[in-house]
Amino acid sequence: GDRHSFIVVSNRLPVDRTIDDAGEVVWRHSPGGLVTALEPVMRSNDGAWVGWVGQPDVDIERFESDGIRIVPVPLSTEEVARYYEGFSNDTLWPLYHDVIAPPGYHREWWEAYVRVNRRFADAAAAVADDGAVVWVQDYQLQLVPKLLREQRPDLTIGFFNHIPFPPYGIYSQLPWRTPIIEGLLGADVIGFQRLADANNFSRAVRRLKGFTTRGSSIDVPLVDESPGVRVHAPIAGGKPTRRVIARHFPISIDSRGFEEMAKRADVQARAKQIREDLGNPGTIILGVDRLDYTKGIAHRLKAFGELLRDGTVSVEDVTLVQVASPSRERVDAYMQLRDEVELMVGRINGDYGTIRHTPINYHHASYPREEMVALYLAADVMLVTALRDGMNLVAKEYVATRTDNDGVLILSEFAGASDEMKKALLVNPHDIDGLKATIVRAVSMPKSERMSRMRSLRKRVFEHDVARWSSEFIDVLLKNGHSKTKQF
Ligand code: G6P
Repeated sequence: GDRHSFIVVSNRLPVDRTIDDAGEVVWRHSPGGLVTALEPVMRSNDGAWVGWVGQPDVDIERFESDGIRIVPVPLSTEEVARYYEGFSNDTLWPLYHDVIAPPGYHREWWEAYVRVNRRFADAAAAVADDGAVVWVQDYQLQLVPKLLREQRPDLTIGFFNHIPFPPYGIYSQLPWRTPIIEGLLGADVIGFQRLADANNFSRAVRRLKGFTTRGSSIDVPLVDESPGVRVHAPIAGGKPTRRVIARHFPISIDSRGFEEMAKRADVQARAKQIREDLGNPGTIILGVDRLDYTKGIAHRLKAFGELLRDGTVSVEDVTLVQVASPSRERVDAYMQLRDEVELMVGRINGDYGTIRHTPINYHHASYPREEMVALYLAADVMLVTALRDGMNLVAKEYVATRTDNDGVLILSEFAGASDEMKKALLVNPHDIDGLKATIVRAVSMPKSERMSRMRSLRKRVFEHDVARWSSEFIDVLLKNGHSKTKQF
C-alpha cells in the first residue's frame, strides 16, 4: 500500500542514481551498514525509506528497490547549496566536530534548513500509517522530529545522531541553538554514539530549556504540544509531561558480512596481489577516510614523514597506503584540505622516495567493498587518527576482516569507537611524538601481543554488530513510544 508502519528518514537514500552506457537511469543499491541492518526490519514491517537522491533538481515518483519502498525528496540547486553544503556541512558539521574548521553562520542557510526539514517531515507524514514508527537519521534533519509530531501525534518518533554532539560551550555558539534542541525533543528517543554526546545534549536541554533531566530521561512539559500525545507522569506541580529518552547506542557494522567477504578466495588473492604490487614491504600501514578535516590525515602524514626523516622507519621496509575518498567537494574547507593533503603527500614522496620505493601510496578515490576488504587484509597496521569522529566504522571494518587474528589497530581516542575498542593502541593525534612512538610500537609488536589484542577487539565487534544496534534502539523506542506496532 501507500502507507507504511516503519519509516526511515535520512538525508541520503540507500540507493544511488546513475546513468548507464545507454544513457538510461539506473538505481544502484548502496549496501551501507545502515541499510543492511534495517533491511530485515523494513521487509517484515512494510517499511519505507524517505530521503534525497543525492542530486539537485531530480523530482521522481516513489519506487521500489530491492524490496524497499523509496520515497524521494527533491532538492533544488539552491537548496543543495544552502541546506546540504551550507547549513549541514559548513555550519553543523564543523560545529559538532569541536570547531576543527570555523563554522559559517548564515541566515539564508538556516532558512533553507528549516524549509527542507519541513519537506522531509511532510514526506514522512504522507506515507506513515496510523501509529507508525518513524526513525529519523542524523544532523541534517534535526528539526524533523518536532515538525512530524506537530502534524502526527500518533507516531512513535526516534532520532539517531551519527556524529558527535558538542559540549555546551561550543554548541552555544549556534544562533539557532534553541530551535534545534526543540526540534530534537519532538522525538521519543534521541540516540547518540557516546555517553559523552548524550550528556552534552542533556546539558544543552537544561541550559536552554530549563528542563530537568534524570539519567537518560527528560520530562518535556506538554503545554506547547499537540493534543493526543501520550501523557507520561505529571511532574511536581501537576503539569502533564511527555518523556523523552536521550542515551547512547554506539553504532556498528555488518561484522559477519565483512568477515564472509574476507574469507573469499578472490578477495584473499587480491590482498596478496596488493602486497606484491607494493613490492612486498615488511609493513603496510593503511589509512582509509573520507577526505575530511575531522580525520586528522595531515597529522598522520606529519608523523609518518618525521619517522622517515629521523630514519626510524625506512622506505624499503614500510609503506603507507592512504585512501582518501572524495567528499563534499564544493565546500571550501574540503577543497583546501585536498590541497593541503596532496601537498604533504607530494613533499614526503619527493623527499624520501626512491625509484624503487614510494613512501606514500595515495589514492583520491572510493572503491567497492571487495577492494576495501582486500586492502584491510593486506594491511599490517590500520591507522585511524581522527581529531573528532562520531564512531569511525573503518576501525570496526578492519577488525571484522582479520580472520587470522593478526594486524594492529591504532585508534584515536577522539573517535567514538575508542570507548569500546580498548585493546587498540589508543593515540592522541595532536601529540605527534606520541603518534610516532605508537606507529613504531605497532610496526614492531610481537605476534603474540598482536593476536591477543585482535582477538579481544574481534569479540567486541562481533558481539555488537549493527543488527544489535538497531534492535536495541528500536526496543527502547517501542517501550517509550505509544505505537500500535510492536512486532519488530
Ligand atoms: C557521515 C554522516 C552521514 C553522511 C556521511 C557521508 O558519516 O554522519 O550522515 O551521509 O558522512 O557524507 P555525505 O555528505 O556525502 O552524505
